[in-house]
Amino acid sequence: TRPDNHVVVLFGVTGDLAKRKLLPGLFHLAKAGLLPDRYRIVGSAPTQFALSDDDFRTYARDAVATFGLSEPSGPAWQSFEDSLSFGAADPQDPGPLLAAVQAAEESLGGEPRRLFHLAVPPSAFASVIGMLGDTNLAQHSKVIVEKPFGIDLASARALNKTIHAVFDESRIFRIDHFLGKESVDNILALRFANGMFEPIWNRDHISHVQIDVPETLGLEGRGHFYEGTGAFRDMIVTHLIQVLGIVAMEPPVWLAAQPLRDEKAKVFEALRPIEPGHVVRGQYDSYRDEPGVAPDSSTETFTALRLEVDNWRWAGVPFYLRSGKNLAQHREVITLGLREPPLRMFRTDLPHREKNQGNKIVIDFGDPGWIAARFLVKEPGPAMDLAPATMTFCYNDSFCQAHGLQGYERLILDAMVGDQSLFTRSDGIEHIWEVSTPLLDNPPPLQPYAPGSWGPEPAVSELIAPHQWYLPG
Ligand code: BG6
Repeated sequence: TRPDNHVVVLFGVTGDLAKRKLLPGLFHLAKAGLLPDRYRIVGSAPTQFALSDDDFRTYARDAVATFGLSEPSGPAWQSFEDSLSFGAADPQDPGPLLAAVQAAEESLGGEPRRLFHLAVPPSAFASVIGMLGDTNLAQHSKVIVEKPFGIDLASARALNKTIHAVFDESRIFRIDHFLGKESVDNILALRFANGMFEPIWNRDHISHVQIDVPETLGLEGRGHFYEGTGAFRDMIVTHLIQVLGIVAMEPPVWLAAQPLRDEKAKVFEALRPIEPGHVVRGQYDSYRDEPGVAPDSSTETFTALRLEVDNWRWAGVPFYLRSGKNLAQHREVITLGLREPPLRMFRTDLPHREKNQGNKIVIDFGDPGWIAARFLVKEPGPAMDLAPATMTFCYNDSFCQAHGLQGYERLILDAMVGDQSLFTRSDGIEHIWEVSTPLLDNPPPLQPYAPGSWGPEPAVSELIAPHQWYLPG
């Protein structure tokens, strides 16, 4: 079903996220015929960054041309461009935004829905929410709030309180775009639709889990944002732990927002408080020379850590999470390492033991992603020697990707139709901040690393021993 007619307001429209993902994503949705019959998109930013409607359209065209999947041209672009207008807003001076929203609503006629997307730094969330409340714009509206949601437990609780004073929980969409990725959503199908995987998805058969998102990207001009955020808040406490929630959750009783989010919240509740001794924090050499970064910055650009989910299914199974900027490879991979059978009847000096070749289920959740099962087979020849083999499912080989949506696209669409299944909930987020408190209170010292490396050495060795990071070539 197509969503009802909407006015979408993008706060922070001149920022990096709107330029790279939101404007190109909205155009892709429009082109795919998935936006409402009638819609208007109002860009907003503080007065000092105000644009005219024409300049905003040019800005959007450049953003789509640079970062979008399809060219901003032809009738599809024309009608998208016609839907764009700009309304500057400061909490003290919301006038231009109010006028732009009113004009957009009048041009649609009827009673269009309103969706606000707060693509602004966490420090600005509260004042924008306050303005939406004070101006009554919040009435009958939905709001998408970007991550990270707060910077610690106290601020997340305070932010929840601020938002709840203006929006009912059913109208709050805390977004984490990893949850909108096709291949992350597919984990539910892989686990719960297949007799092949679910029976072994537990501590009896799985020795450890890795959720590994190294990035080759540096700061990409986002020094100011990143300096106040760091790898832990930008990636771990948000994207990677949300993915962990899907990997570790119990089957929900049915596929709907409440049971899904209940099961994920239970995983976060079962997380053991993070031990600072199980965390490696790194900063790449030359980070302090980046624009927007303090010369004595203590912000980490790399975090690797070990988590434990203290419940019946996972007790004793370490979950290793790793992410950082300027690393050797760009990957998004989940690896479940399976326990080895005794292997008594085979040679004990098997090379696979040294080479990290034991059985594995590997989920690459990059775009478009793939899933592989790694196992041992007999190498052809007179001797009973074992060698690793792989069975792989590739999205591109099995499905036409033309129908695929990117994370943000899927989630904006879900928010329009009011489906909260793939959005995070206040209790889940508060549990995550709660278990992060020991680390935030006592962060281990920063360790330098060379750009293009795998981060500080202890993350590659001690932290994960006796296992190893598994990155398929
Ligand atoms: C964003 C982070 O949320 O996710 C970025 O702020 C990171 O630092 C990005 O690079 C990764 O997402 P994707 O979808 O590009 O893999």
